[in-house]
Amino acid sequence: MIARHAFYRAVPLALSASAPGLIILAALAAWGLLAVVPALIAGAAILVATGLIVGRSVTALTRVRDAVDTLTADDTAAAWTPRHIPRRPAGPAGELWLAIVRLTRAWSDRIRTSEARLAAAEAVIAAVPNPLILLDERRRVVHVNAQAASLLGAVEGPRDLAAILRNPLVLAAADAVLRGEAARVVDFTLTVPVERQLQARFARIDRQSHDDAIAVLTLHDITQLKRAEQMRADFIANASHELRTPLTTLTGFIETLRGPAREDSEARERFLAIMHEQAARMIRLVEDLLSLSRIELNEHVMPQGRVALGPLLGHLADTLELRAGERGMRIQLDLTPDLPDVLGDRDELAQVFQNLVDNGIKYGRAGSEITVAAATGARPSYGGDAPESAFVSIAVRDRGEGIAREHLPRLTERFYRVDTARSREMGGTGLGLAIVKHILNRHRGYLEIESTPGIGSVFTVFLRPHPAATPAPCSGGMP
Ligand SMILES: Nc1ncnc2c1ncn2[C@@H]1O[C@H](COP(=O)(O)OP(=O)(O)O)[C@@H](O)[C@H]1O
Ligand SMILES: [Mg+2]
Repeated sequence: MIARHAFYRAVPLALSASAPGLIILAALAAWGLLAVVPALIAGAAILVATGLIVGRSVTALTRVRDAVDTLTADDTAAAWTPRHIPRRPAGPAGELWLAIVRLTRAWSDRIRTSEARLAAAEAVIAAVPNPLILLDERRRVVHVNAQAASLLGAVEGPRDLAAILRNPLVLAAADAVLRGEAARVVDFTLTVPVERQLQARFARIDRQSHDDAIAVLTLHDITQLKRAEQMRADFIANASHELRTPLTTLTGFIETLRGPAREDSEARERFLAIMHEQAARMIRLVEDLLSLSRIELNEHVMPQGRVALGPLLGHLADTLELRAGERGMRIQLDLTPDLPDVLGDRDELAQVFQNLVDNGIKYGRAGSEITVAAATGARPSYGGDAPESAFVSIAVRDRGEGIAREHLPRLTERFYRVDTARSREMGGTGLGLAIVKHILNRHRGYLEIESTPGIGSVFTVFLRPHPAATPAPCSGGMP
């Protein structure tokens, strides 16, 4: 096939290559300078020799061309293998072939490297934990990673950014960056499916990518950050307010004692008693604040002590009995026998139960009973799939006014009170349950609050038994 093809191409080439020689021979014969027969023999020799040389070259070049055609038809890099490279032809065609083979190898290497780089870049985009969107110069979304698709929905084909993010601030920032600004950052709120605060960061890509992207948009969920910022600001405002109230009262009485009531010994006694109470309130507040910050500082370190709950609760009941008695109340302990010791810090756990029983005394009905019941075999409702034996529960129950349902989720926030005036009047700081929550976080424990308005409340603490105190699970039990 190649031979016939080459023959047809070689004939005109051989003829034109030998034409000058043949013309000279013909002229020499015509002028009588060369006999006709030798001229014909020489002419035939020239034709045969040229035909052979041209024929071989054309055959070799045709082979080279066919091989290059095969390489071009298979445009995948993987197809560029020695399989496509025929035996090296002789002569200049052979050198040409070698050059083409070198070029082919260099190209396939380059293509392989580019493909690997592209795959790596795509893997990086997919692995970015934040939603990431690539935009072309017409503000169309040309690529979204999986995180962006799950946040904003999948995008079919290049679509305007406004189709998935309608926020005017975000779109204006996108336009500015596409016009040539290096970067822009905007905070905005996404309302569906749940309200979230997001930060959009736009940056230009210096090189145009394969999908024509020239800008990248990354989204950062800053809801928690904003919430923390708000909480910090609220906390400072609340703490300052709580401290200023008794301070104002104190300064007021100091003024009165230095002025109008200077000589009034009866008023002085009364005022000093109030001042003492206000100072005590400030001390309580500062102590609660300090203890809260100390607990928070160590919140990531779980205490490893071994605490026997019986003596701890017994001591607590004795300490608070007097205060309970003032309201005609009783503290009733109900501990199961064989209560395992728990893992924790004795002083902090004492603070937990002191706060809960203290609340019971404050908010329980006068003359009623507060029960503190400790047992094993119960599990907090959000304790995951931990076995029931993984917890010891201590329930502090009061009979009193109870708490309306809407307040329950917020009770452990700092300074959150159902009735602020009432809490202050009872000497509360509004920090007790926040301290309880943080201590329990540190102990990897839980607090559950149940309450029925008009009947009373149960605050249940779940703690982890000390490993040495946990009885080994018995084998061969009931199925
Ligand atoms: N046992 C309870 N019965 C009714 N309300 C309670 C009880 N315990 C706490 N609360 C409510 O939760 C609020 C926060 O409690 P806490 O943080 O201990 O602050 P404080 O006792 O200083 O007011 C209280 O102000 C009160 O409104
Ligand atoms: Mg309290």
